[in-house]
Amino acid sequence: MKRIVVLTGAGISAESGIRTFRDSGGLWEEHRIEDVATFDAWRRNPALVMEFYNQRRKQLLEVKPNPAHYALAKLEQKYDVQIITQNVDDLHERAGSSNILHLHGELRKSRSTSDDSLVYDINGWELKLGDRCEKGSQLRPHIVWFGEAVPMIEPASELAASADIFMVIGTSLNVYPAAGLIHYVPANNVKYLIDPNAFPLSGIKNLFVMQEKAGIALPKLAEELLSA
Ligand code: APR
Repeated sequence: MKRIVVLTGAGISAESGIRTFRDSGGLWEEHRIEDVATFDAWRRNPALVMEFYNQRRKQLLEVKPNPAHYALAKLEQKYDVQIITQNVDDLHERAGSSNILHLHGELRKSRSTSDDSLVYDINGWELKLGDRCEKGSQLRPHIVWFGEAVPMIEPASELAASADIFMVIGTSLNVYPAAGLIHYVPANNVKYLIDPNAFPLSGIKNLFVMQEKAGIALPKLAEELLSA
């Protein structure tokens, strides 16, 4: 079975109604990264950070996967599909994809501030100051903040290296190390870049750029790959 490895970013969830970060109207226009998405921000003003993620989580419970998420799930009929997502939403899971690696954490989970291995599901949308892990420490959002290590990057790069086909969908490729994953893909293997604002990536061989919305381009590409 051929392996398709997919790197997704905020753009794949845009048509579900979740704002991206860096498009016009994106989240980082309204919030400063330094105020809500760093460990320093959490130390300075945990209530503000908590509220930022509570609002994201509340919104996530109101949206649904879109045709792009479903197209990736459908590709499993014929391919070993491995998704590496920068997204903290759970729309790939809800669309039925089986193999999902979250590089930047998961919005619907919390983690102990004293023991990284203690990760919990959050019921509903709200995580509160005073919510504690089984060892008595405050819980924080299970999110990889700017400046923090990305523990899943090693398995992600191994997956990228094992791709027969690699897809990059809906990411501005501004944030490393995720943006560098494409360099692990064997040069001769086919790569697709799907993003209405996509630009050709220099130095990448066998790259097909599709300047379209994921919800339009991906169902078409999936049909082609399923009938190939
Ligand atoms: N279909 C496909 N792509 C789209 C669509 C769409 N319907 N709408 C927008 N896009 C594209 C934009 O053109 C842009 O290139 O999605 C991309 C979104 O880029 P960013 O907002 O920078 O999101 P992302 O690349 O996922 O950000 C990476 O930055 O803030 C952090 O941790 C956060 O995981 C995130 C990381």
